Amino acid sequence: MTGKLYAIGTGPGAADLITVRAANLLATMDIVYAPAARKGGDSLALSIVRPYIGQQTLIKERHFPMTHNAAEKEQAWQAVVEEIKTDLADNKKIAFISLGDVMLYSTWVSVLERLPDGLDIEVVPGITSFALIAAKTQRPLAMETQSLVVMSCTVGKEALAQALKQHSSLVLMKAASCLADVKELIEQQGLLDCAVLVSDASLETEKQYRNLRDIPVDEKLPYFTTVLVNKEW
Ligand SMILES: C[S@@+](CC[C@H](N)C(=O)[O-])C[C@H]1O[C@@H](n2cnc3c(N)ncnc32)[C@H](O)[C@@H]1O
Repeated sequence: MTGKLYAIGTGPGAADLITVRAANLLATMDIVYAPAARKGGDSLALSIVRPYIGQQTLIKERHFPMTHNAAEKEQAWQAVVEEIKTDLADNKKIAFISLGDVMLYSTWVSVLERLPDGLDIEVVPGITSFALIAAKTQRPLAMETQSLVVMSCTVGKEALAQALKQHSSLVLMKAASCLADVKELIEQQGLLDCAVLVSDASLETEKQYRNLRDIPVDEKLPYFTTVLVNKEW
């Protein structure tokens, strides 16, 4: 195979939070693959980078189902992997874009682990959602001897409780679906004053809660919701 594949992190939302390298590369691609969580739905990653994509570029939005059905996911990943292999054999310059940084909770990693060895691949990092949220809330991620854990709230209540006890600074991702548990555990451990929540950071729909007590009980927060806890801040 003679083409080249770039995995490009788009940053967390705003179009001016992508790297210069990502923008320059996107202008030169033959093909851009963009993951969409919903069938026929818009890819957020694509909406972020659209201004940077060259006129000659073919955009391939591909649906990656967010489901617990492993067979359905495998089928979607394999189909894209086969398509990418065909495009590379055709000597194309391809980008696979993904939100934030591509090596963190990203569809790209599911594609990467299914690609054969020996391909020409370059990974272009992106600004993570939590780097942006730390910046927006002026809350340090970790300092001095602090430990920092980055985890998904979907690990379950027990594991979350343990992590909150063990670490002095935490990034809790995918927080929307488990918000009640997250709030309860943070409150139980007396950490309400050390936590912030940000949804849709840098998008038009952004919401910030500097105090988790202020979140209305009936609030339905979006999938892009992250909580930072720093016990020493
Ligand atoms: C599949 S992970 C993607 C992480 C991404 N690769 C990154 O580098 O941040 C999705 C989770 O990232 C977080 N996230 C991504 N973008 C965000 C944003 N703009 N605002 C708040 N949280 C965000 C949320 O916790 C969301 O549930």
